[in-house]
Amino acid sequence: MSGYGFETTTDEILDGVDLTGRRFVVTGASSGLGEETCRALAARGATISMLARNREKTQAAAARIRETVPDARLEIHDVDLADLASIRTFTDAYLADHDAIDVLVNNAGVMCCPLSRTADGFEMQFGTNHVGHFLLTNRLLPALLRGREPRIVNLSSGGHSIANVDLEDPNYESNDYDPWEAYGRSKTANVLFTIELARHLGPHGVLCFAVHPGAIMTDLGRHLTAETIGQMMERTKQRKDDAGETDDGGGMPFKPVEAGAATQVWAATAPELAAHNGAYLGDCQLGVEGANPTHRGYASWARDADTARRLWELSEKLVGETFSPGRA
Ligand SMILES: NC(=O)c1ccc[n+]([C@@H]2O[C@H](COP(=O)([O-])OP(=O)(O)OC[C@H]3O[C@@H](n4cnc5c(N)ncnc54)[C@H](OP(=O)(O)O)[C@@H]3O)[C@@H](O)[C@H]2O)c1
Repeated sequence: MSGYGFETTTDEILDGVDLTGRRFVVTGASSGLGEETCRALAARGATISMLARNREKTQAAAARIRETVPDARLEIHDVDLADLASIRTFTDAYLADHDAIDVLVNNAGVMCCPLSRTADGFEMQFGTNHVGHFLLTNRLLPALLRGREPRIVNLSSGGHSIANVDLEDPNYESNDYDPWEAYGRSKTANVLFTIELARHLGPHGVLCFAVHPGAIMTDLGRHLTAETIGQMMERTKQRKDDAGETDDGGGMPFKPVEAGAATQVWAATAPELAAHNGAYLGDCQLGVEGANPTHRGYASWARDADTARRLWELSEKLVGETFSPGRA
């Protein structure tokens, strides 16, 4: 639909776009795709709230952005998505000072870490990537509902195709932990959260999208080991074999960060997406069920409306709060 593709960059998406007066909140803004998203939006005049847990690292990211966008409108806020108390402290303070948010980009993430738990005892990947963003988003909704043409963008991953959510044992209390499976579950949760948000908020004019950015060399790989890299290569080869593709030995096609962040910037701003609320996006295009997850393919389980509803209910139980989006 867009004429964009694998190589499209953030600056190409925003060519000719004026974002002056628009407020974006970006999680995981201290590095990688989050930093590039903030840079590209700020270069077009947007005001950005950069959220991350390490202030020094976020300040360094803001300084890098100001090297090319000297008048960037950037605010830095501390929030640890692996700690519900931190999220509540942040959202209370933020809502006291900010009336409206136009776009929330839920970009922060952790991948393939050894078994560890958040402050509230959730498995780290599910807890950070999904539960933390679930609470953050719902608590910021009053401001989003006052935003201009509001949107919520949730970073998922083609890695969601590794595993469906496990609503019975979401925190690996009974089953053996597998770091890739846990990542896959958390990234499926990001897609399911998106379609449930779209169902609740669509009637109130909020657009919600799930994004696979592609494969980009960032700090996300900090927990990878020879063993987990081997498992990833094996999985990629198996997928190619199953799809009858010739294995060129090239593994995964990587993108530079400017192309990696392009799909989330497209999701956050493109007028042509207005008719596609709840969509899964990859390579700056609409997703395709069953296609290659390295690009824009998604698994059918990630779009199941009943699972999405049940994940929402489970997430409310885990955070101990219920939400009625749209009536906030
Ligand atoms: N890069 C890829 O190939 C790829 C592929 C598919 C999907 N994605 C998705 O894209 C998103 C961005 O990843 P990236 O590649 O830009 O990785 P990155 O460079 O590691 O950035 C991740 C960001 O999330 C933050 N973060 C992690 N845990 C947090 C927590 N508990 N509280 C607050 N912030 C936290 C990190 O802060 P710290 O540095 O303090 O940890 C960092 O700012 C992720 O959701 C990832 O799953 C990336």
